[in-house]
Amino acid sequence: MRLAGKTAIVTGGASGFGAGIVRKFLAEGARVMIADINGDAAAQMADDMGDAAVAQTVDVANGDSVQAMADAALAAFGHLDILVNNAGVCHQPGPLEDVAEDEFDRTLIVNAKSVYLTARALVPHMKSRKAGTILNVASTAGVSPRPNLNWYNASKGWMITATKTMAIELAPSGVRVNAINPVAGETPLLKTFMGEDTPEMRAKFLSTIPLGRFSQPEDMGNAACFLCSDEANMITGVAMEVDGGRCI
Ligand SMILES: NC(=O)c1ccc[n+]([C@@H]2O[C@H](COP(=O)([O-])OP(=O)(O)OC[C@H]3O[C@@H](n4cnc5c(N)ncnc54)[C@H](O)[C@@H]3O)[C@@H](O)[C@H]2O)c1
Repeated sequence: MRLAGKTAIVTGGASGFGAGIVRKFLAEGARVMIADINGDAAAQMADDMGDAAVAQTVDVANGDSVQAMADAALAAFGHLDILVNNAGVCHQPGPLEDVAEDEFDRTLIVNAKSVYLTARALVPHMKSRKAGTILNVASTAGVSPRPNLNWYNASKGWMITATKTMAIELAPSGVRVNAINPVAGETPLLKTFMGEDTPEMRAKFLSTIPLGRFSQPEDMGNAACFLCSDEANMITGVAMEVDGGRCI
């Protein structure tokens, strides 16, 4: 019960890595808001998980929607200890000059601007309590980019810099900010990264991961739990690879 008594919001919590983080947080004793643009999936998951889980429909790209999520979390829990900025999207892979402008905008607004919007809504609360931790789900793409995912890679690089600059500014307020950098993982988003889900493409991706497997939602749950728990009280501003050695 490493998160006993803690409360958390996990954006994009209804699928993939976010769902893995939600399951781990609940198993470790936290109360968790599953906040997702797919409200039906969030509600279904909360139903399945019991009383410690609540669902919230949110578009992390929209300031009013993010504020409503923050208000709902504080109404449900009374206070917030942990914010996980996990919701993310990727444009279709392709030459950088061919990515459509609306896909570029969507990628940047969901992956980058959302971090500003959630901070605007929840950092004042964390500062007032002189406590709290924020975890940004970035990517190995922000450290060791692959071709044809240019603007997605850049959005994750932005997220890693945001993590470090938030950490330095919020440290005197007792708020820690970290990131995890997952490698390609078994989630619905994987097909978008690979372009096509074929045995050949899977083998190509796997050949770059020294531990020889794709990451799993459970891997992100375990890393997130550590970084958001009191065991990591001396850790802020890191962007930790959860990547089977890919970035070595
Ligand atoms: N899967 C990978 O290979 C991989 C690798 C590195 C990093 N990541 C990152 O991990 C995070 C989770 O990705 P995933 O693979 O679990 O994807 P996923 O598609 O399985 O889940 C993403 C979730 O975010 C939700 N979402 C999308 N846009 C939203 C919005 N505007 N507001 C609220 N919720 C929204 C979706 O409904 C979905 O439930 C993303 O930030 C992604 O960039 C994924």
